[in-house]
Amino acid sequence: MNRIFSGIQPTAKMHIGNYLGAVRHWVRLQDSFDAIFCVVDLHALTQPQDPAELRQATRELAATLMAAGINPERSILFAQSSVAAHSELAWLFSCVAPLGWLNRMTQFKEKAGKKREQAMLGLYSYPVLMAADILAYLATHVPVGEDQKQHLELTREIAGSFNHRYGVEMFPLPEPQILGSATRVMSLRDGSAKMSKSDASDYSRINMTDDADTIAQKFRKAKTDPEPLPSEPDGLEGRPEAANLVTIFAALSDISTADVLTRFGGAQFSTFKSELADLAASSLAPIAGELRRLLDDPDYVDGVLRDGAARARGIADPVIARTQEIMGIHRV
Ligand code: AMP
Ligand code: TRP
Repeated sequence: MNRIFSGIQPTAKMHIGNYLGAVRHWVRLQDSFDAIFCVVDLHALTQPQDPAELRQATRELAATLMAAGINPERSILFAQSSVAAHSELAWLFSCVAPLGWLNRMTQFKEKAGKKREQAMLGLYSYPVLMAADILAYLATHVPVGEDQKQHLELTREIAGSFNHRYGVEMFPLPEPQILGSATRVMSLRDGSAKMSKSDASDYSRINMTDDADTIAQKFRKAKTDPEPLPSEPDGLEGRPEAANLVTIFAALSDISTADVLTRFGGAQFSTFKSELADLAASSLAPIAGELRRLLDDPDYVDGVLRDGAARARGIADPVIARTQEIMGIHRV
């Protein structure tokens, strides 16, 4: 069976952008793949973190993934730091990945900004750790957003050059599953910016834990334009805020934007927004409820993570052993 691996950073609470753009697809992929999902806390350390908050965010993100439908009996769910193989393989790969490859990474350039000399080594080598995450499980498919495509390309290069250098068929070249059908959810305040946990305004996003009143208020205040909704998708061109709300409605109800517009074409935003708020509240309520239940039982969540880590080690440890052997490490 093909194996998927994906990771998500525990850097803030999950919002519907993460859910509709990534996690909801992961939930579905569990049916057709042997799936491994990782809360990548070591990656989170590449940016300054409050230690207590990071610890809490790791457990909370794991609980959110479970509440959203990641089934820890069928799939493996664990925290990156609890499986040493990730760090070990990252080191081994850092000895076969040329600086030139890392220098091309646009995410590093964006995140380091002008203060390149002060940027941490970990931020620079972030993509090597990501390659280790994936290849420690010999994963064949990686569902990621468009923004991670370059990192995955690097993963393939590292896998290929390792195999070539040592004359082995050790690592597969994992295929990106760019979540093409996945929704790119934009900020509720600015239709040209991605909905993001780093936006200063909480009104820019719907968090997975927002209650019905908050959701209704956020959609009411969401930026739109004065025109009523068009009756065909073409009419959304040049109207990014309107397009975003229609996209969210379509994704939540699992229908096309054309179908949304057949129903709401000609309607005022006030009507549409209130229907959208009801839909979002009823879709998210079961997830938020389950999340609250899980957060009341932290031992259960930690137990799932512990069990996930043990199963993950069962796959990754032999891969590390083989890799070390190939590279000439004397194992006693
Ligand atoms: P992040 O929390 O930014 O690391 O993102 C975690 C996952 O959610 C990644 O797969 C992203 O591609 C996805 N994601 C984040 N923000 C959005 C958004 N506004 N719309 C769609 N997908 C998103
Ligand atoms: N870099 C990814 C992101 O920011 C998270 C990530 C870490 C990941 N390791 C991974 C994604 C391995 C897929 C596979 O979204």
